[in-house]
Amino acid sequence: MKDLTPKKGDLDPIEIASRDEISALQLQRMRWSLRHAYDNVAFYKQSFDNAGVHPDDLRGLADLAKFPFTVKQDLRDNYPFGLLAVPRENISRLHASSGTTGQPTVVGYTARDIETWADCVARSLRASGTRPGDVVHVAYGYGLFTGGLGAHYGAEKLGCTVVPVSGGMTARQVQLIEDFGASTIMVTPSYMLSILDEYRAQGRDPRESPLNVGVFGAEPWTNAMRAEIEQSFDMHAVDIYGLSEVMGPGVANECVETKDGLHIWEDHFYPEIIDPETGEVLPEGEKGELVFTTLTKEALPIIRYRTRDLTRLLPGTARAMRRMEKVTGRTDDMIILRGVNVFPTQIEEQLMAVPELAPHFQIELTRTGRMDEMTVLVEATAECASPDRRDSAGKTLGHRIKHRVGVSVRVAVAEPGGVARSQGKAIRILDKRPKG
Ligand code: DLL
Repeated sequence: MKDLTPKKGDLDPIEIASRDEISALQLQRMRWSLRHAYDNVAFYKQSFDNAGVHPDDLRGLADLAKFPFTVKQDLRDNYPFGLLAVPRENISRLHASSGTTGQPTVVGYTARDIETWADCVARSLRASGTRPGDVVHVAYGYGLFTGGLGAHYGAEKLGCTVVPVSGGMTARQVQLIEDFGASTIMVTPSYMLSILDEYRAQGRDPRESPLNVGVFGAEPWTNAMRAEIEQSFDMHAVDIYGLSEVMGPGVANECVETKDGLHIWEDHFYPEIIDPETGEVLPEGEKGELVFTTLTKEALPIIRYRTRDLTRLLPGTARAMRRMEKVTGRTDDMIILRGVNVFPTQIEEQLMAVPELAPHFQIELTRTGRMDEMTVLVEATAECASPDRRDSAGKTLGHRIKHRVGVSVRVAVAEPGGVARSQGKAIRILDKRPKG
């Protein structure tokens, strides 16, 4: 793999600033953001007043802990435009969640917010090893989802040639990567695996592809998955994180030279880690729920937004800004099976260690009597054809999960191609337990 470490001179000054400089900028911007939210959004005025706090109470960054949290339900309750801090006419773009689980959540951007977002994604791409002039293949979905357009504007801002493919039509994805000579791909890691399968189905060697860099995010993925993708394509695989409520992709990104967690672009987003039960702020290095406060957003300032993502904060390495460890999962995706907490990423890690099984999986939850049961649906690789070998690969996975994760599960090994694929975020959990 190529050494793609960016030159120091190409970085934004804040990426190499001192911790004191970063904190000073954050404090100044946080004051502005709290004031902007309080003065222009009735919801924040009321929630700060109810909590007995005022923007003037912020003397230092730690005072943020006095302010109330914002949760997804607050966005739903204020659907569609109730949380906007600028007149609707000043909004130049809207995005929204799919709303499969209730009222959709809507987010808005001013023209300047769109510029800031593009800057954050351009910085993320540079950190990933992408350079001006590179061909960037965007296979994140375009539309109301922030993935496609967020990636697109950032890649243009960096000065790349952008190929706006969106998700789906996997055979065509491979064709275009090859014909246009894409050196960077932006896509969910699970859909990248479908692209990998398609390379093989077309009889092409993925290691010969023009790709040097993959910028993967929008869903949790493990270092074991990174190793699989890097090895299969002979390319760098780096992690990009973001969420629509805070902006979209490009809130944090890994640096290609270290791949040791995601540097948070702290000049725009202030992170905290809290205990998800008590809401108390945890010290750096402890694992908990990630909370973000935007420092520069005009249209939709968000104060102490509870992401439900679980991770820990770590000091900066390749950049001055702090890192967040790869996200293990969401509090919503935590399965409690007979008293043991299980995340899909733990299953992924064990699956990747069994070479006879392909890296695709789903988890099915059922209930027999009062007992919850978990079945891990996986598929054999094409090379693992005999029923005996498949059976034994399934048993190996079952043992690994029992010994390393601590739960007994059933493993169902399907034919190659037998596990449902998605063209964006993978659906990992199929909850078939009776409701209520
Ligand atoms: O998924 C934005 C995005 C697009 C990020 C493309 C990266 C690349 P939402 O649809 O609002 O926005 O979903 C946000 O996805 O709270 C996490 O649970 C999850 N997520 C996003 N990036 C990562 C990541 C986009 N790198 C939710 N690792 C977040 C783990 C991630 N989970």
